[in-house]
Amino acid sequence: MMSDAYNNLAIEFCGIKSPNPFWLASAPPTDKAYNVIRAFEAGWGGVVWKTLGEDPPAVNVSSRYSAIYGKNREVIGFNNIELITDRSLEQNLREITAVKEAWPDRAIVVSLMLPCEEHYWADILPKVEATGADGIELNFGCPHGMPERGMGAAVGQVPDYVRMVTAWCKQHSKLPVIVKLTPNITDIRHPARAAHQGGADAVSLINTINSITSIDLDRMVALPTVGSSSTHGGYCGTAVKPIALNMVAEIARDPETRGLPISGIGGIGNWRDAAEFIVLGAGCVQVCTAAMLHGFRIVEEMKDGLSRWMDAQGYRTIEDFRGKAVPNTTDWKYLDMNYKVIAQINQQDCIGCGRCYVACEDTSHQAIARLVDEASGKRTYQVIQEECVGCNLCEITCPVQNCITMMPQQTGKPYMNWTQDPRNPRAEKVPTAA
Ligand SMILES: Cc1cc2nc3c(=O)[nH]c(=O)nc-3n(C[C@H](O)[C@H](O)[C@H](O)COP(=O)(O)O)c2cc1C
Ligand code: SF4
Ligand code: SF4
Repeated sequence: MMSDAYNNLAIEFCGIKSPNPFWLASAPPTDKAYNVIRAFEAGWGGVVWKTLGEDPPAVNVSSRYSAIYGKNREVIGFNNIELITDRSLEQNLREITAVKEAWPDRAIVVSLMLPCEEHYWADILPKVEATGADGIELNFGCPHGMPERGMGAAVGQVPDYVRMVTAWCKQHSKLPVIVKLTPNITDIRHPARAAHQGGADAVSLINTINSITSIDLDRMVALPTVGSSSTHGGYCGTAVKPIALNMVAEIARDPETRGLPISGIGGIGNWRDAAEFIVLGAGCVQVCTAAMLHGFRIVEEMKDGLSRWMDAQGYRTIEDFRGKAVPNTTDWKYLDMNYKVIAQINQQDCIGCGRCYVACEDTSHQAIARLVDEASGKRTYQVIQEECVGCNLCEITCPVQNCITMMPQQTGKPYMNWTQDPRNPRAEKVPTAA
């Protein structure tokens, strides 16, 4: 068995010890001993085993996946219509027991999805506990196939059910209970609060987002197709990371759930993605799509990169920087109305493509001048400082990295948020000096 060389990455997440914060999420990479052993050999700190359910096991269709691609055929978003495990409960439990015995230093969490009746949970939990697993994760998030049967997202979308099932699990098991949340809901704080009230030891998020990735316009059917029809699937991969980060931050800064351990999931593919989830409060991260597309060895870059970055920053443990960006994440109304940035074009780097000009002229604030040298006909682009509102659009559209810089301006004005702003008809009275 390989030991983990990165001592600064060791964590304890809601009582579960792991040599590093990188876990594989409940999905095909964790659906059998063969995969999990190879994942551990590659260096993953833990796994959430592919969701177990009641027997007889689920039956899957063919085909199952589809994707959104970037210009170089890199996968930006991934979509699947798979269900929970399609293997028997007995076989999964046997393999979990064997793998945990062989890899005692790695975290093994067992994901569960069962009908909303207490006896199902009371029956399965002792069997899971007997495997020696470190914890359970309640899959309240599966967006397809299972909700129609009253499970998965059908539970995660109703906070009362989340609270009730979580409480049953706490009652019938001593294992830490992680509640996996569905993003297919208006306000993620509500199910997170319900999980907390039910006694959850942690929440994990996000599961996949309801999606149709594309349509075959010849056959008039969405992808992936099963014969001549299709159904909505669950979206994940790079594209969902911003949604996941926001939901993690919402829970981390909600006074009702503050301090509740969070396992961050969604579009994590490298150490930097992981660090972003951790600074927003996550105590560990889970990865699915990136491992499915690039294999288990991606964890090497993740561990090495995170460990080196921590050394460079002077962080000795994950806890040293966990949640550090949470206090800087606030409601819009508390942003400083007196803060101002202005775009600056570095003429040395500019290739004269004019994209910034078109963007600002057509859809922003007409704050970029196009100047034509009469003799040479050469075009240059200049920011009109008085007109620039600092929206970032030109910087975003510019194809040359760092060619446009957003420069903070010295306004000489103190911090003033919208609740204090005289332009706000509902502004609070700012106390004046006597
Ligand atoms: C093919 C596939 C199957 C999945 N099956 C499960 C599952 O059985 N249980 C579960 O909780 N999540 C399941 N998920 C969701 C992932 O665990 C994860 O929450 C989601 O994919 C977001 O992470 P990612 O962007 O790293 O893929 C599945 C995802 C994929 C792509
Ligand atoms: S920051 Fe916005 S307003 Fe300013 S020049 Fe760029 S696009 Fe125009
Ligand atoms: S988009 Fe960038 S490179 Fe193109 S003209 Fe503007 S500043 Fe120059």
